[in-house]
Amino acid sequence: MAISEAKLRAAIDGFVDPYLKQTLEQANAVRSVALDADRVVVKIELGFPTIGYTHKLQSALQRHLVAADLDVALTLELASRIVPHAVQRNLKPLAGVKNIVAVASGKGGVGKSTVAVNLALAWAAGGAQVGILDADIYGPSQPLMLGLTGQHPSSADGKHIQPLQAHGLSAMSIGFLVDPAQAVVWRGPMVTQALSQLLSDTDWGELDYLVVDMPPGTGDIQLTLAQRVPVAGAIIVTTPQDIALADARKGLAMFEKVSVPVLGIIENMSLHVCSHCGHVDHIFGAGGGARLAAEFGVTLLGELPLDAAIREQADGGCPTVVAEPDGARASGYIEAARHAAAALARRTRDRSALFPKIVVEDT
Ligand SMILES: Nc1ncnc2c1ncn2[C@@H]1O[C@H](COP(=O)(O)OP(=O)(O)O)[C@@H](O)[C@H]1O
Ligand SMILES: [Mg+2]
Repeated sequence: MAISEAKLRAAIDGFVDPYLKQTLEQANAVRSVALDADRVVVKIELGFPTIGYTHKLQSALQRHLVAADLDVALTLELASRIVPHAVQRNLKPLAGVKNIVAVASGKGGVGKSTVAVNLALAWAAGGAQVGILDADIYGPSQPLMLGLTGQHPSSADGKHIQPLQAHGLSAMSIGFLVDPAQAVVWRGPMVTQALSQLLSDTDWGELDYLVVDMPPGTGDIQLTLAQRVPVAGAIIVTTPQDIALADARKGLAMFEKVSVPVLGIIENMSLHVCSHCGHVDHIFGAGGGARLAAEFGVTLLGELPLDAAIREQADGGCPTVVAEPDGARASGYIEAARHAAAALARRTRDRSALFPKIVVEDT
């Protein structure tokens, strides 16, 4: 029996994308459905980086069609279209930068910088243009994590700074400009000034995402960022220890106060993987990130293991996502990055739903 095109379209429209947690129809993602005998070519466009996702989505869609009794071989053509999103309308965006995403935590040493650089690399691997700004003025980590220690950016006109490039990312850090020992004695206003300059004097070019690796806490730097530029979303990193969770709560509350949407929580070092035998242990207790996420009604984007290889790769200038892109460790970051970008894309749609749709007919 011939397949009904209407039934096929309805089935595809009704598929729930696991990252967006919306149907493809709600996400307005289906560009075309072309049926030819028992083959169908489906073109889909999603609002987050999609390179590396095609195979998984094609298989899931194929299973969905089989479950709907549609016996048709599906070929998926997947593309992404990343649009700007910012809720703080009163602030002027950075030219060319679509989305600023802050990676924050209440406490130091929980793995913010490691998460920030791996998320940035995962988005870049997914096909996005990505920059990373190391906003930890007192303790910059990105020069080390990107293997750029000792390098200095250049400036053609004495005003704008060219970011350095590493693993496909544009990167800027106070660590490229001054000796970290020097910045330690800076007072609040100097730190604020330095961050403002790193943000606005850097020639970022066209970026889909600018990831900001925040210092710990809820102080001047966090406020400066939220008051100077529209921040599309924040990702909170926490470890399962009670103290880190209490600090993460403060971070969540702060972003809420300055109207920065929290895209979700990443629980880092949630499991320990023994480097000798591969044995897995919950050394800091289990489920803290999930409870925190539930308490604040935000998504748990991922639970990452405490793994010596992650530290060696990050501290060696070649973070996990580029060191072993197809490995299980990298896939933890890639999954979290996809969930975070989808949370942002979903919010964009939520907001656009508030406005009337304007349709221009081609005559
Ligand atoms: N999942 C992990 N497994 C093992 N080591 C990690 C992990 N995440 C971070 N680290 C290491 O812990 C240290 C602190 O991480 P970092 O990202 O600098 O934290 P923060 O930016 O929150 O201060 C670094 O040496 C880093 O390589
Ligand atoms: Mg850090």
